[in-house]
Amino acid sequence: MSESAPSSSNPLLNLFSSYAEYIGNRKILLVDDEQGVRKSLSLYLARCGFKVDEAENGLQAKDFLSSEDYFLVITDITMPEMDGLDLLKYIKTLDREMDVVMITGHMNIEFAIDAIKKGAFDYLKKPFMLEDVSTTITRILEKQTLKMKSLELERLKERQTVENRQLTEFMTALANVIDAKSTFTMQHSERVSEYSVRIATELALPEKEINLIALGARLHDVGKIATPDYILNKDGPLTKEEYDIIKEHPWRGAELIKPITSLQNIVDIVRHHHENNDGTGYPDGLEGDHIPFHARIVKIADYYDAVTSTRPYRKPMSQEQAAELLRDEAEKKRVEGEFVNALLTQMDLLAPV
Ligand SMILES: [Fe+2]
Repeated sequence: MSESAPSSSNPLLNLFSSYAEYIGNRKILLVDDEQGVRKSLSLYLARCGFKVDEAENGLQAKDFLSSEDYFLVITDITMPEMDGLDLLKYIKTLDREMDVVMITGHMNIEFAIDAIKKGAFDYLKKPFMLEDVSTTITRILEKQTLKMKSLELERLKERQTVENRQLTEFMTALANVIDAKSTFTMQHSERVSEYSVRIATELALPEKEINLIALGARLHDVGKIATPDYILNKDGPLTKEEYDIIKEHPWRGAELIKPITSLQNIVDIVRHHHENNDGTGYPDGLEGDHIPFHARIVKIADYYDAVTSTRPYRKPMSQEQAAELLRDEAEKKRVEGEFVNALLTQMDLLAPV
């Protein structure tokens, strides 16, 4: 076996340290019946920053494996008692993920190739240079680091999914609380969500989009958390000042949910559900197609529920009166006629031809 001693300028010294952040285990099990091979390889690996245990054959290796964790086993193929192929088989039943590198003589290449088919990472052919060992271990460390990083990413995504779900549940609970602040708006958001889904269904939108609209409608008035109760419950028409405060709720709601990743796609619904097609709405006075598509749908649903619900200062309209009003609004181009028709079709309120 030809070996080169590591020099102090060897850039691979402390090889492990650059991967240590992701791979905590720095132990290698070295299995070879030739003491000379073990000693020189072990010395080199130790100088690269690894901790090394040495075994003379497969049986001894099994003993080490029963009490220690290794990120890598380097094993000779031909050994007395228990050879490298049997050891590989044993390791793979113990831990399929543990990396194994075979050491083989010139005559046993076919065994080494067979070992790779059975799960070995690679083989080193005697005589090998110590740099070959470093190259192989570097590849293993890169592979294991990549795996640890992707696992970490996976865990992070799972955690974010759970957090986002919890935040969405919290915001929905908050929407319920806001509706309950006034007896006149009890379950308003739930009904707006239901009407919005009906419109979206009639428009044959994809299920994913319908779910998005349902959630947006559920939270469309979440900004009313900042509206004083006395305004929400006022028994009579609002003053201009009070109406100005009410008009803040779309942008306040949008600002509230903007930082929540899972609610990014409904920010537009919350902000623009009071815009009118003719530009007379709020908060931005957008016109026609400049108003986000989903917001225009929720607007119709919100409008319909508002006029068919009791308010402190007026009685609710009948479904037919509400349908008439919506048709009139569509004719004046203040709301989307197609969406009005979609809702009225779903509600079986289309005017007889
Ligand atoms: Fe609103």
